[in-house]
This record gives sequence, structure tokens and C-alpha cells, in this order.
Amino acid sequence: MPDDASAPKPAIPAAYFGETVTHVHHWTERLFSFRCTRDATMRFRAGEFTMIGLMNAGKPLVRAYSVVSAPWQEELEFLSIKVQDGPLTSRLQHIQPGDTVLIGKKPVGTLVLDNLAPGENLYLVATGTGLAPFMSLIREPETYDRFERVIICHTVRQVAELAYRDFITKDLPADELLGELLAEKLIYHPSVTREPFANQARITTQIEAGTLGTDLGLPDLDPVRDRVMICGSEALNADMKALLEIRGFTEGANNRPASYVVEKAFVTK
Ligand code: A2P
Repeated sequence: MPDDASAPKPAIPAAYFGETVTHVHHWTERLFSFRCTRDATMRFRAGEFTMIGLMNAGKPLVRAYSVVSAPWQEELEFLSIKVQDGPLTSRLQHIQPGDTVLIGKKPVGTLVLDNLAPGENLYLVATGTGLAPFMSLIREPETYDRFERVIICHTVRQVAELAYRDFITKDLPADELLGELLAEKLIYHPSVTREPFANQARITTQIEAGTLGTDLGLPDLDPVRDRVMICGSEALNADMKALLEIRGFTEGANNRPASYVVEKAFVTK
């Protein structure tokens, strides 16, 4: 809801920054993203999430959201689903520039470069809003220092849900600072499951059938050479974990880098 200019603003609880929305973009009826101001003291690593939300009846109503923007960017960006009866997203989807949002002061998470052992190819496997942390990672120069190739595998139900598709395929390669760095390295590999599309299959099916490798011109997933980050629904995460562990991959965590890491794409309501 837009703020009523005459109403006193509720105090922001100490665990949050109160930031101002600067831009809102509606991708589909189920998906939107927004940007907001960033406190000068707000620090995070590419791939981390924090609690975000709104004040509701004098209390914070918040959920975990991965940061879409890169740590070097001036503003913060987030990607969200819209659920008509969802406690937070039913309200958050109506935010407008000028509104205040709560941003948790302590970003955390496992989808960070330090949690992966050195490797050659980095696969970023997302469904739906699980793309969010990877949008930050593909704008982090260190990602390209550490890996020869960075392959984004984004699976959604409908073509319109391939959020940031033009940004990844057109804007990023043309970017003055990052373009050269990622030119030979960043590979975008989208798939759509419930509409006709050139690549119409779940990522798990593509890996099992071997078509991911043939499409990319790369060998099958191998824990010696490849590293994987996973971010999607519980079902996607469980299926990907099983598929990787059968191939000899081991899960990394803070202070224990290994060959893959996984995190839930949190907000479902
Ligand atoms: P599908 O259409 O075959 O269910 P959702 O919007 O439900 O989160 O799904 C986003 C995308 O993730 C859809 O394309 C969906 O495919 C896919 N998906 C859902 N569950 C899995 C899974 N267990 N493994 C791989 N892909 C999945």
C-alpha cells in the first residue's frame, strides 16, 4: 500500500534498515522485482540473503530474500513471487517508489564463492525466483577470477517467467566494466516446462538424459572439474542433491568448501 503521507511512520526496529523503494518491475502476474536505497553500512557477499518486508500493525512482517544486486552496486534489488493470500507478498506486490521497506542488517547464506573448492566450471542451477542469488554472483568479478565458465541454468514454467533474460544475454555482455570479463565465460541456458520453448525440460531431466552436456558442448558433470550451486523449491533441491551425490559431489558449507552448495528459494507465500 502507498504510505498515507499524513500518518506517522512507524519506528523501524533495530534489526532492520528502513529503505526507500526506487523502482518496481512486474514481470508477470506471479513475479515482480524492486530496487531500494542501501544503507552505507549494509555489507553482504554475492549470493547471500537477508530478511526483508514491511511494518504490519506495528511489527515487522518479513521473509528471507536473496539479494539480486551485486555487493558493489549502490542500490539493493530483490525478486519476489506474488501470492494473493500470502501474508507478505499480497502486500509487498503493491509497493511503489517512495514506500519504505524493511531490510535486515545481517545478510547470511551458503551460496557464496568461499563455500566451493576451486574448480573449472561453475553451474548455477535455479528454478523460479531461485535465480535471485545468481544474479548477484554473475555480477561479482571474483566469480570470473575463480572459474573458467559460469553456466546459468534457469528453469521456469512459462517463457515470461525467464526474468532478467534480456539483462543476462544483452545488457551484461555490453556492460562497460563486466562485459569483457564475462564474454568468454558466462553461458545462459534457460529451460521452460509448461510452454513450447527451444529447451523444454526440467534441468534434472536434461542432466540425466545427458542433453545438458550436448547442448553446452561440455562433458557430463564431474566433481573433480565442476562446481554447482542450487537454488529452487524443496523438490528441485532434493532431486539435484541426489543427482549430484550419485556422481560423487559433496556438499559445502561455511568453513567447509566442497563441490556443491544448496539453498531453498525461500518465499512461497
Ligand atoms: P514443472 O513445470 O515440470 O513442474 P514452480 O513454479 O512450481 O516453483 O516451478 C518452477 C520450475 O521448476 C518449473 O519449470 C518446474 O517444472 C520446475 N521443477 C519443479 N520441481 C522440480 C524438480 N523436482 N526438479 C526439477 N525441476 C522442477
